[in-house]
Amino acid sequence: MTQYLPEVEAIAREAGALLMGYFAGHVTIEYKGDVDLVTEADRASEKLIVERLRVRWPEHGVVGEEGARSGPGADYRWYVDPLDGTTNFAHGYPVFCISIALARKDEQLEAGVLYDPTRDEMFSAERGQGATLNGRPIHVSKTKKLAESILGTGFPSHKRHKNPNIHFYHQITLRSHGVRRAGSAALDLANVACGRYDGFWEFNLNPWDTAAGALLVQEAGGRVTRFDGSPFRLDSREVLATNGVIHQELITNFEEIFAGRGLEPLPSPVEYAKSRS
Ligand code: IPD
Ligand code: CA
Ligand code: CA
Repeated sequence: MTQYLPEVEAIAREAGALLMGYFAGHVTIEYKGDVDLVTEADRASEKLIVERLRVRWPEHGVVGEEGARSGPGADYRWYVDPLDGTTNFAHGYPVFCISIALARKDEQLEAGVLYDPTRDEMFSAERGQGATLNGRPIHVSKTKKLAESILGTGFPSHKRHKNPNIHFYHQITLRSHGVRRAGSAALDLANVACGRYDGFWEFNLNPWDTAAGALLVQEAGGRVTRFDGSPFRLDSREVLATNGVIHQELITNFEEIFAGRGLEPLPSPVEYAKSRS
């Protein structure tokens, strides 16, 4: 018996309907940073979710991306991303979701719900009970080698000039079937959980991006760590999630890339331009 899922799924579904209402019309975009966008839909969705959680579980704390904070010392805390994939949403690109997760004070993840309203896909997991997509059990892929894998990644919106991920993107693209950059880290993790991706990594994520997705991957039989294989924590920032089978191979590849060993240099646009003339 799941303790939280039916009620959290209902809240996520309600927030999803609200987001789709905004998605059909025009949304006003504001900037929280350089290219860190927020819209009225993010705020309305967070308000709805947090109100519902506080009524149902008044003893629990809440951390929402758009500023909701309560119960810092509570035994349980909800992590809420009311709209993951805001840039996609603001441009009318239908790849975004709602992510809600419950963690104990010691960071053990208890439950996670991730809802994609554009495809009406509800991903859910509760600790020790497996993961589901629209009520059906899901499992990570069985792909054995990085060379036969498809993966996802994302690029940070803060301090993006200082981030080295383009090198990882380049190298892993050359060493696999390809790397997708879909724009919703939470959905990327759900895609690992249900086997659409064999792996996913990203630098600089927040607990509201990763909490639900990390539990989904673990409950679907996959592995979630930091880039060096050390345990993933909610405040880890970096996340490496895979089907488990290719995990060590990816860690080894990351070590090589971080060490700058055997890298094919990025092709020069200047040389390319010369070759065209
Ligand atoms: C962002 C998305 C994106 C990831 C960014 C996140 P937001 O979340 O998950 O895929 O690359 O790092 O900040 O701002 O759309 O909730
Ligand atoms: Ca997010
Ligand atoms: Ca968000």
